[in-house]
Amino acid sequence: MEIKKVAVIGAGTMGAGIAQICAQTGWETNLFDAYPEGLKKGMNSIDSFWNKGISLGKTTLEQKNKWASNLHPNMNLVDAVKDVDMVIEAVPEILEIKARVFHVLGVETKEDCILGTNTSSLSIADIAAASGRPDKVIGMHFFNPVPIMNLLELIKHDLCSKETIRLAKEAGNKMGKTTILVKDVPGFATSRLGVILGNEAIRMLAEGVASASDIDTAMRLGYKHPMGPLELSDLVGLDVRRDILNNLAESFSDESYRPHPLLEALVENGELGKKTNKGIFNWENGIKSERNDLV
Ligand SMILES: NC(=O)c1ccc[n+]([C@@H]2O[C@H](COP(=O)([O-])OP(=O)(O)OC[C@H]3O[C@@H](n4cnc5c(N)ncnc54)[C@H](O)[C@@H]3O)[C@@H](O)[C@H]2O)c1
Repeated sequence: MEIKKVAVIGAGTMGAGIAQICAQTGWETNLFDAYPEGLKKGMNSIDSFWNKGISLGKTTLEQKNKWASNLHPNMNLVDAVKDVDMVIEAVPEILEIKARVFHVLGVETKEDCILGTNTSSLSIADIAAASGRPDKVIGMHFFNPVPIMNLLELIKHDLCSKETIRLAKEAGNKMGKTTILVKDVPGFATSRLGVILGNEAIRMLAEGVASASDIDTAMRLGYKHPMGPLELSDLVGLDVRRDILNNLAESFSDESYRPHPLLEALVENGELGKKTNKGIFNWENGIKSERNDLV
């Protein structure tokens, strides 16, 4: 089987980026969202990305038009998925919502269609069970912003077939991504390491070990991380990070994964990072500056 036609479910931050890359890969790409405004926002963000590429001289109008002709917004889920070779789901991180989508996918897609989920923390086996075709379901964890980030973390659960893994890896490579293969364990490889580093950095900040910028600089210059763990936490969203830590603490029955009280307090205050203009750093007008009211 060769992948030629795909559907992306959910046109938010991740779904729009995934659909954009699928269209750029040359695949006919249906983009579905349950809400008209969600679909419109997703299509607009793809258009803006391509327009920016043209203004920077990184792409041409001709190229953009070719990519755009592969991209088909669709408000009808059954119609969007019925004759595609691969579906990638990127709806909110709530098991009931994903399970409902996968139930429909299990009934309405072709028998050999690959069903990928972009979940960042839920069990792939639980999502796969809802499809009734678990051998075809695989975790396809992309990173934000999808068109720029090169990693695709593939997550296999016990019932995932070898052919599904092979096809997902091949698809990822065609999309220009480097794939890694990870077992279906809480936090996979990336989220588990990422949140622990971020949580420890917040603990160090709270203990007054160093300023937020200096902790970040330690990892940037000392360990060649492109971005410090505190800045990255602010970019991902402190609420997202808090939820993943709680999920890990419960799944592993290990309280050392629990979010630090400073992280809890910031989330309680609605200071979630860049998206709310305030988190571990100030982000007024998108520009990062140190806070001096935290510790
Ligand atoms: N944002 C990130 O940095 C990031 C990174 C990796 C993985 N993820 C994962 O990707 C998934 C999506 O995250 P996001 O940040 O793009 O979310 P988002 O909130 O930006 O987008 C979700 C989209 O899904 C739509 N939607 C809601 N219910 C739906 C349904 N039943 N059917 C179809 N569409 C529906 C919404 O209208 C919205 O457009 C989540 O599982 C998240 O954990 C996110």
